[in-house]
Amino acid sequence: MLSVLVINGPNLNLLGRREPDVYGTATLDDIEAMVAEHAAALGVDVSFFQSNHEGAIIDRLHEAVGACDGVVLNPGAYTHYSYAIRDAIAAIGIPVVEVHLSDINAREDFRRVSVTAPVCVAQIAGLGTDSYLEGLDSLVSRLRKEG
Ligand code: DQA
Repeated sequence: MLSVLVINGPNLNLLGRREPDVYGTATLDDIEAMVAEHAAALGVDVSFFQSNHEGAIIDRLHEAVGACDGVVLNPGAYTHYSYAIRDAIAAIGIPVVEVHLSDINAREDFRRVSVTAPVCVAQIAGLGTDSYLEGLDSLVSRLRKEG
């Protein structure tokens, strides 16, 4: 069975009450439940991790090697400036799909730059919680094609 890890970065633990006009009202628990349900329908094993700390996210990416087949990652604001997370994604050699709830290309200028996207296999943004489901779909179809 394919195994996927979903990583959420800083401030995403506050979803539900964090800028609901931008990020919606679903909590991180709600999102994880939706993803778990979707993964079950796809026949994929899924696990979750959230951290507000860059190093902890990097450690978890390293630990993903050999433990799972691919990663769905919302790096939060690290998207825009963490070369260390970018390097970790490039280093691990397993596919990572970047997801965002909001449309980062339609917000402040600093959000238009993703330093992590160039080393990810796809970026899905602006679909709210569906970004995670599409991210999982895209990762799983890629993994199944690779066989
Ligand atoms: C986000 C977009 C980022 O710019 C922001 O810093 C976040 C959330 C999103 O999911 O839309 O924390 O990654």
